[in-house]
Amino acid sequence: MASNPRIRKAVFPVAGLGTRFLPATKTVPKEMLPIVDKPLIQYAVDEAIEAGCDTLIFVTNRYKHAVADYFDKAYELEQKLEKSGKYEQLDLIRNILPPHVRAVFVTQAEALGLGHAVLCAKAIVGDEPFAVLLPDDLIWNRGDDGALKQMADAAEATGASVIAVQDVPHEQTASYGIVATDAFAGRSARIRAIVEKPKPEVAPSNLAVVGRYVLDGRIFDLLERTTPGAGGEIQLTDAIATLLAEKTVHAYRFKGTRFDCGTHLGLIEATIRYALDHETLSDAARGMMKNALSELGVVDLD
Ligand code: UTP
Repeated sequence: MASNPRIRKAVFPVAGLGTRFLPATKTVPKEMLPIVDKPLIQYAVDEAIEAGCDTLIFVTNRYKHAVADYFDKAYELEQKLEKSGKYEQLDLIRNILPPHVRAVFVTQAEALGLGHAVLCAKAIVGDEPFAVLLPDDLIWNRGDDGALKQMADAAEATGASVIAVQDVPHEQTASYGIVATDAFAGRSARIRAIVEKPKPEVAPSNLAVVGRYVLDGRIFDLLERTTPGAGGEIQLTDAIATLLAEKTVHAYRFKGTRFDCGTHLGLIEATIRYALDHETLSDAARGMMKNALSELGVVDLD
């Protein structure tokens, strides 16, 4: 039986500026952009709860009231829905978080980087292993365990930190953290080196870090000593690079399809995929897409 602790706490760094989605993100946080009927943040939260987390820590900034409001109780709306007998909708907004889960909000006063955002959660996490989820990486798993649950199981079995990875085209390495590993045994391999956004000519592999981490609490001490790196930001990758010398960190090739919803195309792709697979919208969405492709002359339906 596994004797390592199960992760209970999940950190959601959502204090970035979201510049790639301006002008929408001038008022709507990127994490609140919807994929069909739920905001991105809800998909990540559901994944964390499924993995066994009961304390969700949101690292926000002063412009992101919408994220806190979303998880708060909406008294007036609940009363109105109840009065008008809209019980299905009432259930939807009442059950955004199950009763055993608590949400905690901390502020990152200045967007100094992902590593700095994670460090802002230190006082609440303490020194236990915890998860980090970047909601703009949406991972689709039809009926299977979510990516974080797969990783939490692996972390519990080995006691190692676990980082989600995915093979990317070699020319795209400069958009990711890239790892060099030992040989894979199943879905896991020990990480030997990690580097943030290397150019293809110096990248140690094409194995890219995706926004799901299970990290040892030691990372906080290392983040405190991390100076600004790529892009002038305090990088989580740099602290993980230091952690490698002290602790075992595994790369984990998760089962599932990842959509990079931090980009226009990724958000569109996720929307199409979720619509095509949606319980009630799927047939209509398929018909709509066929018509659109036919009208644009992309496919000939005759
Ligand atoms: P991104 O690199 O996607 O940056 O951050 P961003 O600001 O959200 O978006 P763009 O590039 O300007 O369009 C990766 C994750 O780290 C968080 C972001 O909210 C996102 O979840 N982050 C980044 C912070 O919380 N604080 C920071 O200082 C930087």
